[in-house]
Amino acid sequence: NWSMNDFIDMQIQQIRETVGDRKVLLGLSGGVDSSVVGVLLNRAIGDQLVCIFVDHGLLRKGEAKQVMDSLEGKFGLNIIKVDAQKRFLDKLAGVSEPEKKRKIIGNEFIQVFNDEAQKLEGIDFLAQGTLYTDVIESGTDTAQTIKSHHNVGGLPEDMHFELIEPLRTLFKDEARDLGEKLGMPEDLVWRQPFPGPGLGIRVIGEITEDKLEIVRDSDLILREEIKKAGLDRDIWQYFTVLPGIRSVGVMGDGRTYDYTVGIRAVNSIDGMTADFARIPWDVLQKISVRIVNEVDHVNRIVYDITSKPPATVEWE
Ligand code: XMP
Repeated sequence: NWSMNDFIDMQIQQIRETVGDRKVLLGLSGGVDSSVVGVLLNRAIGDQLVCIFVDHGLLRKGEAKQVMDSLEGKFGLNIIKVDAQKRFLDKLAGVSEPEKKRKIIGNEFIQVFNDEAQKLEGIDFLAQGTLYTDVIESGTDTAQTIKSHHNVGGLPEDMHFELIEPLRTLFKDEARDLGEKLGMPEDLVWRQPFPGPGLGIRVIGEITEDKLEIVRDSDLILREEIKKAGLDRDIWQYFTVLPGIRSVGVMGDGRTYDYTVGIRAVNSIDGMTADFARIPWDVLQKISVRIVNEVDHVNRIVYDITSKPPATVEWE
């Protein structure tokens, strides 16, 4: 549509005027908003944009690679990828309390980002994927806006950035529209909501690499089958969780004692309330059969049929 193209031209001109020949830092999360900001800024100022992408090892299967292939490979963004999987897993070892897990992941994220940012020189601006809804929620005070975004909260005190927030007048669907106009691939632009702590809150209780792998593999099967059924744009959010309980089953001639995987799928407008999605039985059956057959140490699948409230979308 014409107005979005005007918006793009206007933003690019404005960004160029503001930035001049200086440099901008952007934290990429793998989500829609920061990716769109990255592609827009890249178009405006090219290599003067430096991105930091922290891979905390809690992303979905293939997600980190997809972000790199697309944003670095296809769009040519200048990305520093930090492989911090071990750092996060070490910090999380033995921790099973949900709020503690969230805090550890949030704090570690900020630390890794800051460690990398501090190595850079001559950066004057920090770009953020702040949307209009974020602006409303956190008031117009910029300092508050920064704090409300966990991926840039608590910047080092000796770093003084000016903020660049090209999406701050847009709603989510407009940000997606902008992404499409910029030529971004559908699977990035239409990515479903994904929590900052990632799969860390979908492995219930203590996180181990083995458990993460079960969640990653089962989640991929769920996404594949939802897409095959043509439901990927209809269901707001869908994922698998690993409650960590094991139960008795039978496979071939033998008794098994393996994990249960939960399927969570909800429809929502803003995540504040949600209704469990009515996935057709035959689709659920395919998902169930595939997960049990293809993912080791899983012998039972359950479907979460609670809405929010009283349940939350995530299990932790
Ligand atoms: P809950 O579980 O609170 O989730 O009903 C509502 C929506 O928010 C997402 N969510 C998060 N998003 N950081 C985020 O950016 C978080 O810590 C976080 N926790 C939950 C959740 O995936 C759902 O879309």
